[in-house]
Amino acid sequence: MKQNQRVPDPCVLVIFGASGDLTRRKLVPAIWHLQEQGRLPEAFALVGVARREWDDNYFRQQMREGLAEFVGELDESVLDAFLAKLHYVSGDPADPTTYVALKNQLETLDREHGTGGNRCFYCSVPPQIYLGIVEQMGKAGLNHQHQDGQGWCRVIVEKPFGHDFDSAHNLNEVLHNVFAEEQIYRIDHYLGKETVQNILVFRLGNSIFEPLWNRRYVDHVQITAAEGVGVEHRAGYYDQSGALRDMIQNHLLQVLCVIAMEPPSSFDAESVRLEKLKVLKAIRPILIGQVVRYAVRGQYGPGTANGEAVAGYLQENEVPADSRTETYAALEFTVDNWRWQGVPFYVRTGKRMEKRTSTITIQFSQPPHLIFGQTDQMPPSTLTIRIQPEEGISLSFNGKVPGPDVRLDTVNMDFSYAESFGGRTPEAYETLILDCLLGDATLYSDSDWIEKSWQLLMPVLEAWKTTSSGAVPSYPAGSCGPNEADALLSEDWRTWAAL
Ligand SMILES: NC(=O)c1ccc[n+]([C@@H]2O[C@H](COP(=O)([O-])OP(=O)(O)OC[C@H]3O[C@@H](n4cnc5c(N)ncnc54)[C@H](OP(=O)(O)O)[C@@H]3O)[C@@H](O)[C@H]2O)c1
Repeated sequence: MKQNQRVPDPCVLVIFGASGDLTRRKLVPAIWHLQEQGRLPEAFALVGVARREWDDNYFRQQMREGLAEFVGELDESVLDAFLAKLHYVSGDPADPTTYVALKNQLETLDREHGTGGNRCFYCSVPPQIYLGIVEQMGKAGLNHQHQDGQGWCRVIVEKPFGHDFDSAHNLNEVLHNVFAEEQIYRIDHYLGKETVQNILVFRLGNSIFEPLWNRRYVDHVQITAAEGVGVEHRAGYYDQSGALRDMIQNHLLQVLCVIAMEPPSSFDAESVRLEKLKVLKAIRPILIGQVVRYAVRGQYGPGTANGEAVAGYLQENEVPADSRTETYAALEFTVDNWRWQGVPFYVRTGKRMEKRTSTITIQFSQPPHLIFGQTDQMPPSTLTIRIQPEEGISLSFNGKVPGPDVRLDTVNMDFSYAESFGGRTPEAYETLILDCLLGDATLYSDSDWIEKSWQLLMPVLEAWKTTSSGAVPSYPAGSCGPNEADALLSEDWRTWAAL
């Protein structure tokens, strides 16, 4: 999204949790792609840290296999040169001696490879380990950066950022004890997706749509993130989390903010974050007594996926038989400001839905006066932004069916990323890691945004926690969610867009 070919300073990227799934599947492939595109400095090194007793060679071998699996066929000589930049420190993140060994390794790399004392630390470990790592880094003096901009130090924190408001606030406090806010990069990979970034370009890089982007012309907005898969191997984490925490607190509220925010005066971290925070502050809190009206949850039961019978959530491995964790959540938000007064924002997410799709639907208002003999059945014009798959934007509106009568039908204008731009779309992690190495936090969340988003959702979490809030509605795997979610919109005489 930024100017092309920015290359970071010489630096070292340290990954805590380097033996894990995220490192192998996403982080190292992203770094490979950055290297391939010449987006990394010549003096670059990656240091993996984890408890497993691996050494440099074994780590490189593991990453070689990961790249073969997740990137595909690679030029062996280029790959060897890339892997030579990878190093490994074995140690428990709870043990202070791990940080002594890490510090030694970093100093050696600075000396031998000219990485200039610039470090980015990536916390890719389970969330309960973040606090300990941050505290130990502080004690080991790994948090310092020089005022002159040489020898910078940044830390990337993975999601989930907290489990509720209190834990997120506590994590922010611990981070702020050790790092300045501008050193902290809280990742939300949705913001790194090309299509999400494109929302701002689409809105503000053209003068066609922005005049329509308000309560005068928009009837309502829908934001959907539907997954076809179930809980897969993540039941241990997911059952403690649920759809609201896993998807809405972070990804979907971020998307809502990008859709609803006022144009910032410039595309920099401070201006963009300020406008996004203003949106959260303008969202009308859902009070605990209003949860039944404005929030719906669900849990998938047995059903079908890709034509095959699949288990319900309660039958999945590691899911307690009496779990009340929601695998589906839908909420109606009201944004109390001049631009959006009276325009509901409906947000929904679920697992084991009919299909995998993440879309934003802007439904425009009906024309004020219908002159073609049509009634209110005339389909409204809609703008659909497809985040995944088949990334693109479609405008659907009414056209005249050729013939002697004036008959209307819906037609589409389509923009497809793949057709227009071809090539490989960068993964979100590429964009975000590069931005952090460049010191650009525009696409990262700040502490105020995180805490405000939790604050907004706490009444819903509180209401859903108690068994007195009733049974969790069930929906068949492979469907569009529970019937109760349809009622959320039908109360307002609206319906969900097709998945
Ligand atoms: N995987 C994904 O697709 C994904 C997506 C979004 C966000 N995330 C987030 O990214 C982070 C990493 O995800 P992941 O899937 O890679 O996690 P993971 O595989 O469960 O854990 C990463 C590594 O952390 C170390 N670790 C695990 N438990 C530990 C403990 N009790 N004490 C110290 N080290 C421990 C392990 O290495 P050793 O045993 O060798 O120490 C493990 O290889 C998590 O916060 C996750 O929520 C992951």
